[in-house]
Amino acid sequence: MMTAFNDSRSNFGKMYTYDTLQDIANHLLSRTQLRPKIGIILGTGLGSLANQLTDADYIDYETVPHFPVSTVEGHVGRLIFGYLKGVPVMCMQGRFHYYEGYPLAKCSMPVRVMKLVGCSHLIATNAAGGLHPDYKVGDIMLMKDHINIMAFAGNNPLQGPNDARFGPRFPNMMNAYDWKLLRKAKEISKAMGIENNVHEGVYICLGGPNFETVAELKMLRIWGVDAVGMSTVHEITTARHCGMTCFAFSLITNLCIPEYDTDELACHEDIVGIGLRQEKTLAELVGRVVKHIHMEHKQ
Ligand code: HPA
Repeated sequence: MMTAFNDSRSNFGKMYTYDTLQDIANHLLSRTQLRPKIGIILGTGLGSLANQLTDADYIDYETVPHFPVSTVEGHVGRLIFGYLKGVPVMCMQGRFHYYEGYPLAKCSMPVRVMKLVGCSHLIATNAAGGLHPDYKVGDIMLMKDHINIMAFAGNNPLQGPNDARFGPRFPNMMNAYDWKLLRKAKEISKAMGIENNVHEGVYICLGGPNFETVAELKMLRIWGVDAVGMSTVHEITTARHCGMTCFAFSLITNLCIPEYDTDELACHEDIVGIGLRQEKTLAELVGRVVKHIHMEHKQ
């Protein structure tokens, strides 16, 4: 049983016990007939992907007990239960970021709620800076792995007492991004004719909110990082802990150039704009992945 955990960095035990999360899940299930099997988190500028959902029920975060409210421009802040290509899904339109001041466990709390309402899969999307020299703005990087640098520094959403009803004390992260889904997504991008703009790479989540210095980017490149962002890693960590199968991708919204004499500077407004420009393509990719998962799990 999870007990109170008095650490201001990680008030997860205190605020989000299994029972509290079950209450949230029951509340949501009482407000929609839909029973999703796939949870989708929409990143900065990617929220309009939710426009593709049909027969949708919209639930604002502020109306859900115990839910934080997203504070970032470009993030609406609601859950959407609806059908994507005929498949029942639950979308988070607007996520919670560490830089907003929430502990990591609070940022990834909705993932456990997804699990408790019945989702076996998580699809996470994000906007990221492209560090790999071949990446261009508008490209998609399918996440094949991540570096959890925040956990290196002792900050992990799974810190604190472990509730075995979610998962083990020491979860494995070797196959965090399901390789079969990754392979399928590559096939899908080929079928869509976008394979030249789709890569596989390693993502890192930094705390933000500032973008990186040149020296930091140089270091990250040496580490094998291909894209830099401020989300997703703690969500995937939480999802894998509770046994969800994960797929994630980054939309490259700006280039991270590790040189001092460049005019390429990341800015939030551009990041949101690129997301809107790619809305249809991304929705199609997500829709086809969702459909594939649904077909696979019907048998
Ligand atoms: N750095 C960190 N996070 C980001 C970036 C970036 O360049 N672009 C979008 N999110």
